[in-house]
Amino acid sequence: MPETKTDAASDGAKRIVYFEKFADPVTGTILARDPSINVQRLELSNSDAENWQAFSGAHGYQIRAARDELPVHFFANSEFLARCPNMLVVSSMGAGFDTVDLDACSAAGVIVVNQAGGNAEAVAEHALGLMLALSKRVGETDQFMRAQDGIARNTYMGRNIQGKTLGIIGLGHIGRRMAELCGSLFGMRVLAYDPYLEDSDFVERGAVSASFEDVLANADFVTVHCPRTAETINLLDARAFGLMKPGAIFINTARGGIHDEAALFAALQSGHLSAAGLDVWAVEPPPRDHPLLSLSNVLASPHTAGVTHESRHQVASYAGEQLLEIFAGRRPPRLLNPEIWPVFQQRYRALFED
Ligand code: NAI
Repeated sequence: MPETKTDAASDGAKRIVYFEKFADPVTGTILARDPSINVQRLELSNSDAENWQAFSGAHGYQIRAARDELPVHFFANSEFLARCPNMLVVSSMGAGFDTVDLDACSAAGVIVVNQAGGNAEAVAEHALGLMLALSKRVGETDQFMRAQDGIARNTYMGRNIQGKTLGIIGLGHIGRRMAELCGSLFGMRVLAYDPYLEDSDFVERGAVSASFEDVLANADFVTVHCPRTAETINLLDARAFGLMKPGAIFINTARGGIHDEAALFAALQSGHLSAAGLDVWAVEPPPRDHPLLSLSNVLASPHTAGVTHESRHQVASYAGEQLLEIFAGRRPPRLLNPEIWPVFQQRYRALFED
């Protein structure tokens, strides 16, 4: 892409824009260390003209990671990038990046980074919490006790998770922490499906590599920890749920849309699956009359797995530090399209060094 040194760029300022708030204000504190960086806060309530004016001169965009928190025309896709000739980097606020079209960014010579790892502990603890609560049927007994008197304790007999098989879809930062927790705390056998890892990665991360089908067929718990991409949308569909062991428990703390909600409802209602723990939804927040929320063996949370005090601060620190590296011309640690790095270097030099 030919560089256009617009007025906004010609003063040498490195312009980063974001909507309304960072995951934690520490991002701004960190970016303030570099006086050549100019951070501009945008409001969704601004006129589009005002926001587009800022985007047209921006070099960096700290973008919200959740689809339902950003109007679609501010997603980083090809139409958006066509209006941002100086954009060098799109930085996701979290580990997910479903508001970003990675291929479109690569085609435009724009690097994409995320903050994977910053909230891994929070999400893994949440997924494990759902597994334990569902195995002990805590949600069901809680609902019963609030609605009715008396209880036949054997009606809600639970199961231990010790020694059972865990199936992980996506063995990245969160998946590997799940493998570590479940393997070491409960002696669980851990199977994982991740087409982007080498055999040695599985060994190092405490899991046995298995095909998607084998994970489903052998796991007592299936937990999803892959990103939402064109490849993973509806990955867990009626066929996949059909392959799961009768009585198995399904957990998704990754992204809505990776599982087909109607197919999951059918698998739970028929009794094929015994329970599900869901932090993520096709539309967020889901409506109160969502069919899955009518089932007592579904434990729900509103995309809060990664939202802890510690993880917000860590993710926001990662974001600030990583943007400082990028705007010093150095290669960032969490680059999602590394093949674009040489193009970025050329574009960066043309804007700030030539
Ligand atoms: P990560 O990037 O460290 O790991 C993702 C793993 O998924 C990688 O190992 C990758 O190879 C694998 N993967 C990619 N495509 C796959 C496919 N088709 N099938 C199986 N595996 C595939 O990311 P991290 O930090 O582990 O986060 C995982 C996901 O969790 C994020 O993409 C995000 O969507 C979600 N998340 C949800 C949060 C919440 O609050 N509920 C908070 C943080 C992350």
